[in-house]
Amino acid sequence: MSQPPNDVGIDDVAVHFPRLYLSTTGQFAAARGLEPAKLVRGIGVEQMAVPDRHEDAATMAANALLELMQRNRLGPGDIGRIYIGTESSVDEAKAMGTYVIGMLERIYGRGSFSECSTVELKSACIAASYALENVSLWAGNKEGNIGVVIATDIARYSLNSPGEYTQGAGAVALLVKRQPRMISLDQEAGFFTRDENDFFRPLGMKTAVVNGKHSNQCYLDAVEGAFASYCRSARGGPICPPHGSAVTDAFDHILMHIPYPRMVEYAAASLFCQEWQGLDRWNSVEAQIGPLPRPGDFPGPAEYQEASSQYQRRFARTPEFIRAFSAKVEPSTLLSRRIGNIYTGSLYLGLASLAESGHLLAGQRCAFLSYGSGCSAMVFSGRVSRQIGDVPLRGLLKRLQERSELSLTDYELLHEGARSESAIPPSGEFALLGEDEQGYRHYDWAK
Ligand code: CAA
Repeated sequence: MSQPPNDVGIDDVAVHFPRLYLSTTGQFAAARGLEPAKLVRGIGVEQMAVPDRHEDAATMAANALLELMQRNRLGPGDIGRIYIGTESSVDEAKAMGTYVIGMLERIYGRGSFSECSTVELKSACIAASYALENVSLWAGNKEGNIGVVIATDIARYSLNSPGEYTQGAGAVALLVKRQPRMISLDQEAGFFTRDENDFFRPLGMKTAVVNGKHSNQCYLDAVEGAFASYCRSARGGPICPPHGSAVTDAFDHILMHIPYPRMVEYAAASLFCQEWQGLDRWNSVEAQIGPLPRPGDFPGPAEYQEASSQYQRRFARTPEFIRAFSAKVEPSTLLSRRIGNIYTGSLYLGLASLAESGHLLAGQRCAFLSYGSGCSAMVFSGRVSRQIGDVPLRGLLKRLQERSELSLTDYELLHEGARSESAIPPSGEFALLGEDEQGYRHYDWAK
């Protein structure tokens, strides 16, 4: 992050996901003619969260915010900013945060958030990271400035498409303040941006246009570019790798955008492959899988790219890679395997995965690799705070177990907006009641 003047970062995280899910391995795999092993191992998604009829990105954001406030005994007057990252907007003009504040005011009283500012940021899956950068700069400026970043999305692709098994839904709310109990953010960040047609959703469309394999490559290129930019900015600052070691060695956890867990394995292979060149461990890797392909050895860029990606698949099977991946990357995919893609929140769902499974320890260093289609990447870093043990757990694994499994038919009806009733009537949550004739959305707290 660029220049917050004081120790500032993520103090707490609240996660909300729908109570409904679809298992990828049961009826779904059979109906789509897919081997369950492909979905569990080849993609990495076992269950996908499915929003009910009364849920949208705004209700999920409001539910996550309410939990964050209750966990931290915060009142509306304590929060100065609510910045929302989303690509599942419910209106072309009105900021989602105003709907969210409207819902929270059903609990805290009308006008109770009137001094809070709210902005909706759209930048595909990287939006919440740009929101975090902005809110942390503001929170670092003055003692008592407390802000919230909410990442909320519904990842929806056409039925029977290859994107279908990477769907999901959920919201993550981050509490941002000075002297944070979870992650103190470093001042350095690296960026990469380029115009791409990898994944986009033209106005009026309900599902994204996806050029699947191309989107994977754009993710790898952008993260590689942003990581190199981060290294230029951070070397000599928070990151000083001793001779013979790589920048990634300095991190205990490398968190990434998780469109599906297998993508994180591709990205880690690409990153370590690039980073380990010239180090002792690379000699051992080369002895097993041969030297890296070089562009000059192939007739054109497409052949070179195919050879490089095959090489990285082989690299991902070496013991050196498996050790580094299992220690530094894989634990952050725990929740994504059972929730699916939540777009801009997925990087922070990774943080919640580490926190809930007891992987975050005081003093550890974390790298955050954020990616948004279109495309843009941002790499930043932070240190786990000494007070991490003071942050209560959230019981997310238990909550996952308490969800209800949908039949394939009910899933398809919900997906197509063809159910007239909720599959489970809302209770103890914010719910969408409906839209009036002008298109204004009405929400309420369902007791
Ligand atoms: N057992 C184990 N593995 C198996 C298997 C089996 N029985 N059968 C197949 N597999 C493996 C394949 O070999 C492959 O692995 P390798 O790459 O190692 O060869 C893996 O499963 C994936 O299978 P496919 O290559 O056939 O890929 P697919 O046609 O299923 O498409 C996808 C995958 C492109 C990701 C598609 O799901 C998609 O378009 N998803 C949406 C777009 C997306 O998520 N893109 C990611 C980058 S963009 C981004 O990050 C932003 C965002 O959030 C959308």
